[in-house]
Amino acid sequence: MTKKQQYKVTTRLVHGPEHSAKWDFSHHVTPPLSSSTTYRLDSAKRGARGFQEFGQLVTDAGETPVYIYDRLDEPTRSILEGELAEIEQGESCVSFASGMAAISAALGCTLKSGDEVIAHSVLYGCTHSLFENWYPRQGIGVKRVDMNALAAVRAAVNEHTRVLYFESPVNPSLELIDIRALRKLVDELNAGRADDRRLLIFIDSTFATPFGQRPLGLGADVVLHSLTKNLGGFGTELGGAVICPKSMHARLLLYRKDFGGILSSKAAWAILVYGLPTLPLRLKRQQFTARKVAAWLEKHSCVARVMYPGLPSFPQRELAQHQLVDFDGDFAPGNMIYFELDSARAEPEAFIDALAHSAYSVTLAVSLGHTKTLIELPSTMTHSSYGKRGGAVRLSIGLESPSDIINDLKAALAAVAKSEKKPAKSPTPRANGAKARSSP
Ligand SMILES: Cc1ncc(COP(=O)(O)O)c(C=O)c1O
Repeated sequence: MTKKQQYKVTTRLVHGPEHSAKWDFSHHVTPPLSSSTTYRLDSAKRGARGFQEFGQLVTDAGETPVYIYDRLDEPTRSILEGELAEIEQGESCVSFASGMAAISAALGCTLKSGDEVIAHSVLYGCTHSLFENWYPRQGIGVKRVDMNALAAVRAAVNEHTRVLYFESPVNPSLELIDIRALRKLVDELNAGRADDRRLLIFIDSTFATPFGQRPLGLGADVVLHSLTKNLGGFGTELGGAVICPKSMHARLLLYRKDFGGILSSKAAWAILVYGLPTLPLRLKRQQFTARKVAAWLEKHSCVARVMYPGLPSFPQRELAQHQLVDFDGDFAPGNMIYFELDSARAEPEAFIDALAHSAYSVTLAVSLGHTKTLIELPSTMTHSSYGKRGGAVRLSIGLESPSDIINDLKAALAAVAKSEKKPAKSPTPRANGAKARSSP
């Protein structure tokens, strides 16, 4: 066990590697931001060696690798990847320019024409679009199944199936997929399959972050993240990551080199220096607030249903308590809330417009895992690729005071609530579009 490994994850996220072959760590306090597109090679031999060794896993213990060109590998990004692999308890990590770049690369270097993927029925809108718009053109089959219906998953698997793909918690419904149960099924199904045809479990764990869930320990093979969300945390960088077995590492690097979707070193640096060290702090605060907001929403007469893993009413409460666990072993229900308004009492679009016009602490914007509380309507925004209308609302809790968020939500609901005497009235936009502080 190294000295670093004797410390809690929260501390390790603040301090990062004790020593790294990727950079002179003994003389830096903050990880360095490298900004070279290309690297001096000294000799033809060194240049050849760099290309020859490309794809090898760089550890903190070994010799400094020969860096050649930013699109192949570079130090800041590589240090971030080491940290992400470690907190996910994985063997290796490859980062990408965005969450979608990570998802398409992990699937792209696993699947070929003729293969099939089985994906959960509800997914983030762009992942849905990837499967529906692009995979048919590439001759890759996609079956959509409820991943908690194990009999249906078993029935959907055939000799062409390679990947079971899902998010947990699911965006936007917050439903959980039972990872251990799927592992059991996949082990059974893999018993008769050749090594290179084994079924693999891919999970997009963006909603939980490694703070709230470590899927590899529960039985997943590959973990995907959008670093744009809570891992970055401040809404300033796009990024994505694949945490995978060593056996997949070189292929993913090759894919990234040839398709070109690299994470910029500047984005990697911000995630490494600001995002990771503050992850537990932000998540703990956001969860504290999310519990209060969810409980308040559940009692409101305009709200028909609230989905939040931290509520006693959450339908998969027991699974949530087993699967969503933080670095210290505490329940980690996360910062995302999904709720439906009672359409007889309030229209979701009017409610969202009222917030957009009047709220200060709640911002109408897509994305999630931000310092600011963000609200959106998935059916017409992030999940519009499904082409379905529906009134549920997705709320990503930020770092504001819980009472301010509740007061802004309360004021917006009051502004649009339908009464029997008075028909619903749309809020009047402020003349200059300026935001107003909420009235308590
Ligand atoms: C669950 C999930 N996965 C992946 C993505 C894609 O991430 P990015 O926007 O970084 O490409 C998102 C984006 O919202 C998401 O919510």
